Amino acid sequence: MPRYLTGIQSSGKPHLGNILGAIAPALELSKTSDAAFYFIADLHTLTSSKDPKALRENTLEVAAAWLACGLNVQKDVFYRQSQIPEVCELAWYLNCFAPYPMLANAHSFKDKSENLSSVNAGLFVYPMLMAADILMYDAEVVPVGKDQKQHLEMTRDVAEAFNRTMGPTFVVPEAYIREDVMTVPGVDGRKMSKSYGNAINVFEDEKSLRKRIMSIVTDATPLEAPKNPQTCTVFALYRAVAPADAVEELRRRYLEGNFGYGQAKQALFEAVMERFGPAREKFRHFVENPQIVEELLRLGEEKARSVSRPVLERVRRALGYSV
Ligand code: AMP
Ligand code: TRP
Repeated sequence: MPRYLTGIQSSGKPHLGNILGAIAPALELSKTSDAAFYFIADLHTLTSSKDPKALRENTLEVAAAWLACGLNVQKDVFYRQSQIPEVCELAWYLNCFAPYPMLANAHSFKDKSENLSSVNAGLFVYPMLMAADILMYDAEVVPVGKDQKQHLEMTRDVAEAFNRTMGPTFVVPEAYIREDVMTVPGVDGRKMSKSYGNAINVFEDEKSLRKRIMSIVTDATPLEAPKNPQTCTVFALYRAVAPADAVEELRRRYLEGNFGYGQAKQALFEAVMERFGPAREKFRHFVENPQIVEELLRLGEEKARSVSRPVLERVRRALGYSV
């Protein structure tokens, strides 16, 4: 069984797109692993945001979302990147093996390099902190979204360069990019994203969640007319959360006509409550009892350290820093 590892940014509240596109598939994958490593990449967040209060709140909510969705802390290793500061030491070593043009070519940097005065050095070396996250735990398979593919290639390149120069030291990881993971639309029909302000937060209180679902943009097809499930955002979301037979039933009602978008939205609201009811309760429990989340994360951090320490020692030895 390969060792899976992936990092989750803590730059905002977890939304339905994050749950269906990242959390659920990762938890599914962890069932095929002895111990998967899932961590909150809270050091990466500092490249874009300097707000300690928001960082704390988002870290708690992201952790609560993973736990509420079923992360098993007995088996898997769940931790905060910032609590294993040795990762910064490893990132430094890797920086010294990373050719400047490789880093200058990273999309995460290039996209912002038109306005260089707003780019901090942290953003420039971001891919090597990510490489350190991965190499620090001898991870073999790293499930990520397509946008992270280039970072994974850089991780492999730097690990191979290090191994070539200093002798075999790192496990060279593979990216696992699931092409079939759905893109969840937001209330305006574009890809759900916190930066578009179109996200649905399934952990919100019932009233606000209902209001949010009722705000989904639909076309002006009259009530009596048949409706096209293929172009409807409400239908796309329903298909993402409801069981297959219920989806077929809704499709039938769309095609039949005399079925309004208001009714479709109500059905979606009910399907969301049905699917996430137990997770919503757990989420609330964790957010109201942050000390429980803290304890679980500390447990994960102990386990993480037991793996990272010997790897770091191996690296120090290879470099001549071991005493
Ligand atoms: P982000 O919140 O944009 O940093 O995304 C975190 C993870 O959630 C990424 O790995 C994405 O694959 C996933 N994700 C974010 N938005 C969506 C979406 N609208 N549909 C599917 N997956 C998403
Ligand atoms: N950069 C990733 C993202 O923005 C998060 C991340 C940090 C990560 N370290 C990682 C993902 C290590 C996988 C492995 O989504």
